Amino acid sequence: MNIHALLVSRFTEALQELGVDDAPVPVARSARPEFGEYQFNGAMALAKKLQQKPRDIAQKIVELVKLNDVAAKLEIAGPGFINVHLNDEWLANQCELAVHDPRLGVAKQPSDTVVVDYSSPNLAKEMHVGHLRTTIIGDAVVKVLEFLGHKVVRQNHMGDWGTQFGMLLAHLNDKLQNNQVAETALSDLENFYREAKVRFDEEEGFADRAREYVVRLQRKDADCMALWHKFIDVSIAHSEEVYQKLNVSLTRGDVMGESAYNDDLANVVAELKAKKIAVEDQGAQVVFIPELADKEGKPAVYIIQKSGGGYLYSTTDLAAMRYRSRELEADRTLILTDARQALHFKQTEIVGRKADFMKPEQSYEHCPFGMMLGSDGRPFKTRTGGTVKLVELLDEAVERAAKLITARDTDLSQDELTDVARKVGIGAVKYADLSKNRTTDYVFNWDTMLSFEGNTAPYLQYAYTRVKSIFRKAGVTLADLPVDIQLKQPQEHALAVLLLQFEEMIGVVARDATPHILCTYLYDVASAFMSFYESCPILKAEVDPAVKNSRLALAALVASTLEQGLNLLGIETLEKM
Ligand code: ARG
Repeated sequence: MNIHALLVSRFTEALQELGVDDAPVPVARSARPEFGEYQFNGAMALAKKLQQKPRDIAQKIVELVKLNDVAAKLEIAGPGFINVHLNDEWLANQCELAVHDPRLGVAKQPSDTVVVDYSSPNLAKEMHVGHLRTTIIGDAVVKVLEFLGHKVVRQNHMGDWGTQFGMLLAHLNDKLQNNQVAETALSDLENFYREAKVRFDEEEGFADRAREYVVRLQRKDADCMALWHKFIDVSIAHSEEVYQKLNVSLTRGDVMGESAYNDDLANVVAELKAKKIAVEDQGAQVVFIPELADKEGKPAVYIIQKSGGGYLYSTTDLAAMRYRSRELEADRTLILTDARQALHFKQTEIVGRKADFMKPEQSYEHCPFGMMLGSDGRPFKTRTGGTVKLVELLDEAVERAAKLITARDTDLSQDELTDVARKVGIGAVKYADLSKNRTTDYVFNWDTMLSFEGNTAPYLQYAYTRVKSIFRKAGVTLADLPVDIQLKQPQEHALAVLLLQFEEMIGVVARDATPHILCTYLYDVASAFMSFYESCPILKAEVDPAVKNSRLALAALVASTLEQGLNLLGIETLEKM
């Protein structure tokens, strides 16, 4: 059920009857319960067009709009707002439908093909905290899109090519010559990279060999490619370990690294030259972009091939754009990287569109995010100033969660404790990130994210276990209940309205790639449940059986909404904690 969409369609019909069919139909959630649940704000804008007072227009719309089934009351407020108070019986019916539907009443959208480019670590190094945001925000967006019925193509655009591989392969070659196996040599990629760099800077002759490897790699010399494959293989395995710990859905099959476009790069440049979009400038192939000129009117310069013939990040992204448009037939392409790459993708889109690498109706959406900061407000680093390895961060989260849970009064067995600690620890790290508006920087803080109070994963996971324990105490399951929901108390009404807003909220997440909207929503659901539970007893002896069943059904819908919502965020729920 999408109440918002329903109201928009009913108000659209009413406006058509008024003779208006091209005006926007603004329907918003009301800020305060006394204004009802939704508000139609379109009357004011029609005053000029219809030559009437906004309140008179509002009055006409109220008479025309067909909302008898949905609304208990429509009232005109202020300059011409129409407040919609939803009808309890209708809300109750919708909740009854949702509680027995595995999709919770959420309809599928007309299916788009959506390419989501996320995670995309550089394989020369180990995944570090910089890749946390793209990986988990991307995965949440992917899950929401799939749930809404879209065809999603995950693209892990890994950085698996480039001149830095010369130095790495030369170093790997030497290790293998010394009878080391690749897995051992590469067990710590950070170290491996550091060693290679030291040799490159200091060891006589090594830099030359590294450059030789670059040439051999570009020539696709068989020995060199075998070495490269080994390196990539082990490096991908490192990422997979992180994905598994993070409960992220990326697999090897989703890897479409930069190297996959190698053979296409010359074509991309040739096509841009043929279309006179790229020109030669000081030996390089460049595109001048007047749309992004500087203050003096000098166009931005977008290099697609260096003077030595080498290709760049930009060339690969153009090839990727073309591939996604033509081969994958993407209606939308979403790319999740940190905000510092915003200009690159803006330029890439302008150039790619000029070259017809995409159809006009295909969208290209860079979804930027801010940085993860330490408590000092600077980019998150280890105590000694190094980059924080993602694996280590996640292990620490689980350890901290275990300590916290042990300190609480629990009757969990050791095995249960291990499981709970993992779900709570990983959930906390992910949720802390997902719950922030992605466009801003945020401060990483262990204590807040692991707190059982406030907008955190543990709070939501705990709310879910509360419902589960009510059902255990009641000795029933949802299937045993005759579902007849009654909404008598204001807390019941408020909870029902919220529960029926699930589809509307995930629709926003799918449109804007903003999982924090879902987080805030789930937090509101959990909080509304807590106040409902306080003022509307369920299991007390004096509660009438019909009321008890109705409240149990509402509670069941709370649990399935929390579970489904957390699931879409890639966060696991537990039966008890
Ligand atoms: N490998 C890049 C990085 O770590 C991100 C790639 C994002 N995707 C893309 N199509 N450029 O910054």
